[in-house]
Amino acid sequence: MKKVDSLVDRDKKSVWHPFTSLESPLPVIPIRSAKGVYLYTEEGEKILDAISSWWVNIHGHAHPKIAQAISDQAQKLEQVIFAGFTHEPAIKLAENLLNILPSDQQKVFYSDDGSTSVEVALKLAIQYWQNQEITSKKRIIAFDGAYHGDTFGAMSIGERGSFNLPFASYLFEVDFVDFPQKNNHDKLVGSFKDLAGTGEVAAFIFEPLVQGAAGMRMYDPDILDQLVGIARDSDIISIADEVMTGFGRTGRLFASQYLENQPDIFCLSKGITGGTLPLGVTTCSQKIVEAFLSADSSKTFFHGHSYTANPLACAAANASYEILLHEDTKKNIKRISARHLEFANSLQGHKKLKDVRCLGTILALEIGTSGQTSYFNKVRDKIYQYAMNRGILIRPLGNVVYVMPPYVITDEQLDTIYDCLQGILEVV
Ligand SMILES: Cc1ncc(COP(=O)(O)O)c(C=O)c1O
Repeated sequence: MKKVDSLVDRDKKSVWHPFTSLESPLPVIPIRSAKGVYLYTEEGEKILDAISSWWVNIHGHAHPKIAQAISDQAQKLEQVIFAGFTHEPAIKLAENLLNILPSDQQKVFYSDDGSTSVEVALKLAIQYWQNQEITSKKRIIAFDGAYHGDTFGAMSIGERGSFNLPFASYLFEVDFVDFPQKNNHDKLVGSFKDLAGTGEVAAFIFEPLVQGAAGMRMYDPDILDQLVGIARDSDIISIADEVMTGFGRTGRLFASQYLENQPDIFCLSKGITGGTLPLGVTTCSQKIVEAFLSADSSKTFFHGHSYTANPLACAAANASYEILLHEDTKKNIKRISARHLEFANSLQGHKKLKDVRCLGTILALEIGTSGQTSYFNKVRDKIYQYAMNRGILIRPLGNVVYVMPPYVITDEQLDTIYDCLQGILEVV
């Protein structure tokens, strides 16, 4: 039996893949190695990773500097309990992050991934009020269409739908407000103010400027700025979930940098390690910190994970940080953003498209369809396969095809993707 067949077979017998039907999955492709924007299959074919492997890989695969940092760290200190102990990579990473986040961010709390960074943010926000013995502030505001992860708190603050249907009765209630669109700002501000006016809202959580999983839905910084401002004036904690938008994705280091009013809490993950190792980070402002400064031990933040601040992940993140701030990376982000914009403009008014949008290194094409516009739209599988046949990995969100490449992608590689997208528009 060929090695590939055997791997696929063995995988099928024992492995359960994420977001994948057990009964009728698309075939898995064994990957042997990866370099730059390419994944190399066991059969020796190369696949262009146009979605940065679920939005994590910002500097290209197997980046030598990050690989070296992980290797060096692994030979010194691979892991240590983070309660009662610390280490240089975690301290340095906290300093690095605080250096590029808004100046009022003061403390960095480590966890494991995007979902846990969100859980930490929610728990900090809830306990912030409890610690001050303010019991009336319990409600949480989120946008329609939100996605913040797959753990229970994160599911609760996310759009209710097929992904979390079996758990619906276990999720806590959230006040969902309309997703900002061109023509609903006044209504949205009105309902936000009504909620804020109850004095019962503990926190407002949002994906700044781009709702990723909802289909790369983009919205105006001005309206978000306004809502964060209202939240601040109404004593509501603002939480920016920058798990997807952080580290240059939207053209700036953080999407919140498009705002004047800054959130109290940031959730970070995905690109933080350059896409090499899992790591979650929640940062908060001095205001939040102060509610936890107490001799009363019940006011301690009792949260932690076995691998909190794993030194390998922190070392990878520090290496990724250096690369992120390098002039070449800044130039690449600008170049990709300009290319995306040019391509998006060339498609304006295309008869097969309902919308085409981009922000920074994210480009999204919303295909007009008579069927469901959800994740389960059948056009998805067709597009996925069309691109895979051309050696390009894109993973449409329903009828939304998007591109979110590693920043090292060249103009020629971008052209290959754009050609593929043009081809998709012809066949759908
Ligand atoms: C905005 C946002 N928050 C949180 C998450 C959850 O991150 P993870 O999958 O690492 O748990 C995601 C994942 O896509 C996300 O896009």
